[in-house]
Amino acid sequence: MKIYRGNIIFTKQKDSFEVFEHGCVAVENGRVVAVAPNMDPWKGQDAEVVDFGDHLLIPAMSDMHVHAPQYRNQAIGMDLELLPWLENYTFPEEAKYADTSYAERMYRRFVRDLWRFGSMRVAAFATIHLDSTRLLMNIFREAGMGAFVGKVDMDRNCPDTLCETVEEAVRGNEALIAEFKDPNALVKPIITPRFIPSCTPPMLKACGELAQKHQLPVQSHLSENTSEIAWVSELEPESRNYGDAYNRYGLFGQTPTIMAHCVWTQGEELELIKRNGVVVAHCPTSNFNLSSGMIPIRTFLDMGVKVGLGSDISGGHDLSMLRMMVYAIQVSKMHYQRDKTKRFLSLSEAFWLATKSGGSFFGKVGSFEPGYEFDALVVDDADLNHSDYSPLHRLERFIYLGDDRQIIHRFCRGQEIPEPRIQ
Ligand code: GUN
Ligand code: FE
Repeated sequence: MKIYRGNIIFTKQKDSFEVFEHGCVAVENGRVVAVAPNMDPWKGQDAEVVDFGDHLLIPAMSDMHVHAPQYRNQAIGMDLELLPWLENYTFPEEAKYADTSYAERMYRRFVRDLWRFGSMRVAAFATIHLDSTRLLMNIFREAGMGAFVGKVDMDRNCPDTLCETVEEAVRGNEALIAEFKDPNALVKPIITPRFIPSCTPPMLKACGELAQKHQLPVQSHLSENTSEIAWVSELEPESRNYGDAYNRYGLFGQTPTIMAHCVWTQGEELELIKRNGVVVAHCPTSNFNLSSGMIPIRTFLDMGVKVGLGSDISGGHDLSMLRMMVYAIQVSKMHYQRDKTKRFLSLSEAFWLATKSGGSFFGKVGSFEPGYEFDALVVDDADLNHSDYSPLHRLERFIYLGDDRQIIHRFCRGQEIPEPRIQ
C-alpha cells in the first residue's frame, strides 16, 4: 500500500467539494482504499508514504471528445461554421493519415500534449485508416494512459480519400477489436460512425451490429449545428429527430454511448438521451469557434442526463481541460443571462464534469472515493499561490490561470506516468 499526502480535493457529487487539507489517500493495486484527514487509520501499518507537502492532489481529467488527427489544425481555420469547415480544413488534413509516418509524428505529439495537460483518459476519434488508428492505440498503450480510440467510419459526403465501403469498415474494425480485446486494458476500441451525414444507412446498420456483437461503446456527433440538423432531417426523413436516427441503428445507448455537442438537443431527443443513458460530451470551445450555439447545460443536469467535457480539437482550439471548465462556466453564464430562473454552472459542477462525471465512462475513474482507480495530478501552484489562499481558492486559481507548468506528477490507474516520448 502507498499513502499519498497533500492538499486533497475531489468531488463526490456535483454540488460540493471534498477537501482534506494536508490529508492522506491510500492506494493499493491501483485503486483508492481510503481518504483521511491524517495518518491515524494506518498507524503501525506497513505502508510507503509519499508526501507531496503543500501541493494540491486532485483527480486527473477526462477529455470526452477529441479528434487526434486534427491536432495539426489546432487554432487554425476559425472562420467557418461546421459543414464548410469540415470540407475546407478537416477532411484534407485527415486524408493525410493514410501515411503512417505522418500519423506517427503527429499522434506522438498529440498524446504527449494530452499528458502535459493532465488528461489521463480520453475518448478519441482517429481517421478511417486502420494502420494509423492502430498506431494511435499503441502510442496510448505505450504511454500508460487510458483511451477509447475509434477508427472513424464514413462512406458518403466526403472526399474519395476518406471514403470506405461498409465491408472495408467492418473488416478494419474487426481487426482492431481482435487486437485490443482485453476488457481490462487501458486502451480499447470504440465504434465511431462520424455523424449521420457521413454514413449511409448500411454503414450505420453495420456500426450498430458491431457494437452489439462485441458489446463495444459508441461515439459520434449529435445536434451540433442548425444546418447539420436540417441536413439530417432530409437524409433520415423517417426519424423523429437526429438522435432517433442513431437509435434506429442501435447507436444510441444500446451500448455505452457518447454523443458530442447536443447544443440544440431538446424535447423528444433529450428525453431519449436521458432514457437511453447516452453521455453528452459538452465541447464549449468548439461551440464558440464554429459558432454552433450554447448548450442548455442546467436543463441537462436537472434532468440527470450524464455529461462530460470535451476539447473537440480542432473545432476547439484548446487541449486544456482546466480551460474547458472555465469555458463551460462562462458559456453557461451567457446562456442564462436572460433567464435568471436557471443557475449558471458552479465551479464544483464544472470540476465534477471534468473528473467524476466524464470519468465514469471509463469505469470507477475521476474521484478519490474508495474503489476508484487512482488517476491523479500533483499540482505545485507556488507561482500562482502568492497569498494566503485556501486550498479551494488555490484550485480555482489553478483552473482559471494554471497550465501544464504546475502539474508535476501524473498518475493513471495507480502508476506514475512519465512524459511520453515524441519519437
Ligand atoms: N461533425 C462531424 N465531424 C466533425 C468533426 O470533426 N468536428 C466537429 N466539431 N463536428 C463534427
Ligand atoms: Fe468532434
